[in-house]
Amino acid sequence: MAGRIPQNFIDDLLTRIDIIDVIDGYVPLRKAGRNHQALCPFHDEKTPSFTVSQEKQFYHCFGCGANGTAITFLMDYKGMDFVEAIEELASRAGLEVPREGGAFHKDNGSAELYELMELVVRYYCRQLREHPEARRTIDYLKGRGISGELAAEFELGFSPPGWDNLLRNLGNSDAAQERLARTGMVLKKDTGGYYDRFRDRIIFPIRDQRGRAIGFGGRVLDDSTPKYLNSPETPIFHKGRELYGLYQARRKLKDLVRLYIVEGYMDVLALAQYGIHNTVATLGTAVTPEHLDRLFKVCPQLIFCFDGDAAGQKAAWRALEIALPLLRDGRQCYFRFMPEEDDPDSFVRKHGSKRFEDASDFVPLSDHLLNTLKQDIDIKTREGCALLVEKVIPYLARLPAGALYELLLKDIASQSRLSVEDLKRLLLGRQQTSQKPLRNVHRTIPKQGDSTLIGKAIRLLLQHPFLAQLDKARNEIADIDVPGVEFLQELLAFINSNPDTTCAGILEHWRNSNIERRLNELAAMENLLMERHEIEADFLDVIAKVRKNYQKKQRQARAQAVNNLEELRKLYTAGPATDQKE
Ligand code: GTP
Ligand code: MN
Repeated sequence: MAGRIPQNFIDDLLTRIDIIDVIDGYVPLRKAGRNHQALCPFHDEKTPSFTVSQEKQFYHCFGCGANGTAITFLMDYKGMDFVEAIEELASRAGLEVPREGGAFHKDNGSAELYELMELVVRYYCRQLREHPEARRTIDYLKGRGISGELAAEFELGFSPPGWDNLLRNLGNSDAAQERLARTGMVLKKDTGGYYDRFRDRIIFPIRDQRGRAIGFGGRVLDDSTPKYLNSPETPIFHKGRELYGLYQARRKLKDLVRLYIVEGYMDVLALAQYGIHNTVATLGTAVTPEHLDRLFKVCPQLIFCFDGDAAGQKAAWRALEIALPLLRDGRQCYFRFMPEEDDPDSFVRKHGSKRFEDASDFVPLSDHLLNTLKQDIDIKTREGCALLVEKVIPYLARLPAGALYELLLKDIASQSRLSVEDLKRLLLGRQQTSQKPLRNVHRTIPKQGDSTLIGKAIRLLLQHPFLAQLDKARNEIADIDVPGVEFLQELLAFINSNPDTTCAGILEHWRNSNIERRLNELAAMENLLMERHEIEADFLDVIAKVRKNYQKKQRQARAQAVNNLEELRKLYTAGPATDQKE
């Protein structure tokens, strides 16, 4: 496996390329005032609202809101993944992309495996059209409501009966057979030689996000077992990472607002047949963090569609546990439970797509969490409240800082009749005594109160990184310790150790962090035309206000501490709780 690309390489790379050149190569830009403009490549428009700032190394469309760095542009416009975008930019800058851990990713022969898999896809597709026995398969698919069009879109195929069809067609040398074996398409016989893995099955080719064929699923046409066979793990196929249908969904839909995650190949096909193209399936495995990571990169809202039976409930809980740490602001998970007797395939055929997509049947992940934990607990009693708090704390501790975390905290506090502060204290105490790693420190840019100030300070730094050199500002906030300021301090330090960085460099440094979105929002705001000394004065003024507010809060907190003691005393002397509605 290739090691990670060192962050400092990315920081440096961005100072060596110019976003204007990068974008202009695909979308011709015209200079307009301080910026460059074009008709937005991400939506239809008649007058240009797509603006590229050389100073910020950042593009922004005032029409559709698309924005980002040169890396983002290559990802969104060219469909590259992050690493491909880095490689593209590095090659423009004449740089070699280094890898951490020195584990260099030499060509391990993957390229020829991908090529071979492409031939296999074509071979199976051709068999579905031409093989004398393919009729049964076509009838089977028709019988399950799959149109010829859809079968073509998903490149469904047929592996004929017999032990050596593929072998004879694509394995006409020792080297070719050995390659087929490396892709898992043929297996070694005890007696020497190979035989086909897939025989007399409907073939579902699996493509990765870039559209490369990497593996196959194969279903029997009757009730024999095993019902499905899948390609084994190979150098190019990893079930824990890949999702069936993701390539097709992204190709079909420009904008993935939400994605359904289902369990079966046939569920993906059935939903697509009903016009629901934003569906992916795991490959016979449970959902993994890698799956969700990958999906969240292309879509902010994931809907798990599990069966309503006990197995489905169990799968849902496991998905919930895996999703929690990934739920930073802007990301959402829901459950769309099926009635016990249905899977998404049968459901959509019975009830139609409208009913399937009815959002009032989506259960938010946090609801599912609380409802499940509250089962068997009587929260009308103090003991029940305490139990709920005890149960919920480990889950809360896994949730990143952000709006959802705060809202849940508030809800749980009110349901268990504690103050948010009490609950936070319990949470902290629990973390300090637990064996599990502490909750990651998450950077926050609060949205209210001081945030307007801190947000402004961050925006000014994004627009004018030179401000980070002002010792006065650095000193003023050095010893302040409140949410948001932590990040401000980190940002100042980053710019000072990367003096050539730009707005884009900052954005890339915090790509994939929980503040990525907020930073992008701030970066997208217009620079006002101001003199350098005015900008400096503005920045110092904001910093001074942050400091003043902090000092004021410190004084208030000391006064509040006395009141809290009183409150806690009341909590313990309260009578039996009967007033709780639930
Ligand atoms: P139909 O039964 O034709 O509706 O297919 P399905 O896609 O709905 O399958 P099902 O819900 O039974 O199973 C969900 C997924 O689990 C399948 O799509 C496969 O990926 C996997 N799976 C099911 N049965 C087997 C099996 O026998 N072996 C393996 N390896 N995987 C299986
Ligand atoms: Mn099914």
